[in-house]
Formats: sequence, structure tokens, C-alpha cells
Amino acid sequence: MGQGRADLAIKNVFVFYGGSVLKGCICISDGLIAYVGKEANAPKADAVIRAKGLLALPGPIDVHVHLRDEGQAYKEDFFTGTSSAVAGGITTVLDMPNTVPPVDSGRRLLERARKARKAIVANVGFYSLFPPDLEGLVELARAGAVGIKVYFHQPKTKLNISDPEKLREAVLAANELGLPVAFHAEDPLLIEASSARAEGGPVEAFVSSHPPEAEVSAVMTLSNLLRGLKVHICHISTPEGLREAKKAGFTVEATPHHLFLTSDAHARLGPLALMDPPLRPEGAVRDLREALYSGLLDVVASDHAPHSLEEKMGPNPPPGIPGLETMLPLLLNEVAERRLPLAELVRLLCAGPADIFGLDRGRLELGGPADLVLVDLKAKTRIRATDFKSKAKYSPFDGLEVRGLPVITVVNGSLAFREGEVVAEPGLGSVIRPLRAGGRAEA
Ligand code: NCD
Ligand code: ZN
Ligand code: ZN
Ligand code: ZN
Repeated sequence: MGQGRADLAIKNVFVFYGGSVLKGCICISDGLIAYVGKEANAPKADAVIRAKGLLALPGPIDVHVHLRDEGQAYKEDFFTGTSSAVAGGITTVLDMPNTVPPVDSGRRLLERARKARKAIVANVGFYSLFPPDLEGLVELARAGAVGIKVYFHQPKTKLNISDPEKLREAVLAANELGLPVAFHAEDPLLIEASSARAEGGPVEAFVSSHPPEAEVSAVMTLSNLLRGLKVHICHISTPEGLREAKKAGFTVEATPHHLFLTSDAHARLGPLALMDPPLRPEGAVRDLREALYSGLLDVVASDHAPHSLEEKMGPNPPPGIPGLETMLPLLLNEVAERRLPLAELVRLLCAGPADIFGLDRGRLELGGPADLVLVDLKAKTRIRATDFKSKAKYSPFDGLEVRGLPVITVVNGSLAFREGEVVAEPGLGSVIRPLRAGGRAEA
């Protein structure tokens, strides 16, 4: 950085800064925010973006993303997954560990991070499963894991977490090292019992074997066992589950599909609207959306879970849909329609995720990393899944008209996405790690 000279200036922009919207200029130097304020006082810059009519927000963090790659690169890879992120205005994603091979040790996490580093155009942090024995947690924390993920309905770890005592011991040990524990909360016994009764085609059978009670029951179990611990509940789909989780002091995430789609979509769209947990009847969805509007949720995350179209249309469709390119437009639409305050969108997508996972991202502040999204709150667009940068080019939101669109995405001070195209070189994104006591932010 030259004396008083910036690398990039974003001029004539509205900025959500310090809790309110101001008009002026953002300057970036060496990947960091160097100036926010009136244009007249801004430093000179080597490059300029004129952002008339656009609104700059802190770069959103999607805490629930399956980037796949490695043994599942045909579904998504590090480049296409993070391209999908920046095209959706998301600058940081947290990657889930149900990969092939799975992530369940510090060594495995570092290996996956090393492969990702060269390819990513958004920042990426990595979850791990519980390691085969608890000693492994120290190595995982040192490797920079952002948290531990537990699939309560189908344990994928060799650690015996079906034993409640063991599970509590494991969560305490993880928390002790600063690691939050995120749960896919569905009761395996209720899934099993409902599966035995399930009828119809594969979609119907899946939906009826993952009833709302399975989620509520799992959250109750976790609440009795882990009350007050640093526990995060993924993709909540029931108002009862949400209420119990909040009573236990857990943080709670909801996806746009559970907020904006009802179980009607299962009949209408079949496997293209099949995900776990499945969509819920209108009453539950309305209550969940009410919770969003009244500030009861901690995070909105996409659960971007891409599968190939062949798999989705085959005899055994796997649950999961891409979500990185629809989440911010859908929430901007809520802001544009004045149902959700802008400050709430920023809390749910930026500051909230950063606080829960201890990341030095998600805030637009002087000296902080220059991760930004410039949005147009007036633009009306139709969601077009065939235009997705993800390898999964389908969506239950395909064809929906929304008001509010990410136009430019800046990652680490450089343009990553602009007017429909990913312009970043692979490697622009950083592998990130949480700020734990004494820790550094970059891997
Ligand atoms: C996820 C996947 O495909 O990895 N699928 C899904 O429907 N959400 C698994 C998960 O998050 O439970
Ligand atoms: Zn410089
Ligand atoms: Zn899940
Ligand atoms: Zn998931």
C-alpha cells in the first residue's frame, strides 16, 4: 500500500456500516478495509468501481455447505462450489465433513484444506466429525476445525455417540477446546419406526419416514443432555424444535427452503425438492417464518447439498439441493418487501455466524478483511437454475421472481464475481480458521 493510496475504491455506494446506511466510498488496501466515509475525504485509488444505486454489505458467511470434491467431485468441486458461493454473494462458507473420504482427524482436515486452497474463490472453513477417540480433538483444534458435526440419526464416526454419557463427554471435550458442536437433529428410532410404515414412491417414503416428531424428539434429547453447552442445531424445520433448542441455550439455523417452501413442493417437484429434513406443512412453515421475522433465529444457512441430476432423477434420489445461489436473493427479497429489516439480514448471515464460530469475518470494519457484497435491492430477477455456477443446475425455487440481487462480490479485497460472471482466479479464497485464544485467523 502506498502512503495514503488505496488499491481499490468503491465509489458512490450505500454502505451498511456501524448499524446504519450511509452514502460514500469504501477503500480497500492489501485485502483490508482501509476507509469508509465521504467521497471527499477518501484516499486516491489505483482502481475504481462505480457502484451507483448499489448497497454494500459485509460478506455473508454460509455455515452449512457441502462442497464435496475429492471422491464426490462429480457432484461439486472446490472451484464450482465456491464459484456458486460468490455468484450468490457469499464470501465465506463452512464445509461439512460427510465427504468421501470423511473428515474425522486433524490430518484429514489439513489434507482436504491443502487440496482446496489452490481452487477456492471464496473463503472456506472446515468442520470435522468427532475423531475415533477424544484425544484426536486436540489435533483437530490445532488444525483449525471450525466445529464438530454430528449426524444424530446416522452416526458417521467410530466414537460411540449413541451412548448419552459418551456424547455428553465428547461435546464437553470439544467445547473445552473452543469447538462448537453442530447437530443434524433427527431421532434414529423414530426414523426407523416410520420407515417400517412408509409407502409410495421414494420421495413419499423418504418424507413420511422423516416426520416432524423425529426432529422434535432429537432436540428434546439433546436439550436434556447438553443444556447450556455450545451446541448448534442445523436446518431446523419445526417451530417446536426451535422453541426447545432456544430454551436449552443452543444456537439455531434455518434454511431458506424450510422458511419459504411447504411440503406441497414434494408432490409438485418430486426429487428436485427432496432434502433432509423434508419440507413441512404450511402451518409449521408459517410459524418458522414468524420466528425469522421476530428475531428468534440465530443463523440462516443454505445447506447447499448438491447431487448430480442423474442421481436426483434416478430410482433412489438422494436428499439435498443446491442453495448457495438462492439464499441471499431470497432474503434480500424479504428486505425489499419490508418483512425483514436489513440489520436482521446482516445479523443472520454475517455477524451471527461469525460470533458462533469465532471467525474474524462477517463485519465491515476498518482494518478487517475486505469481504463484501454489493447488492441491488431494486432489481427484479427470476431465479434460473440453468445459470447456476454450481454443478447442480436445478432448484425448487427455479422460476421464482425475487426483488434484490447480489451484483458484485469482493473476496479478500479482489473482485470475485461481477455482473453474472466469476472473475476470480482459483486460490483467491483463503482457508480460514477460528480465532481461539492465542490463535491466528489464517491457516
Ligand atoms: C445432505 C447431503 O447431501 O450431504 N443432504 C441433505 O438433504 N441435507 C446431508 C445433510 O445435511 O443432512
Ligand atoms: Zn497496496
Ligand atoms: Zn443435515
Ligand atoms: Zn447438510
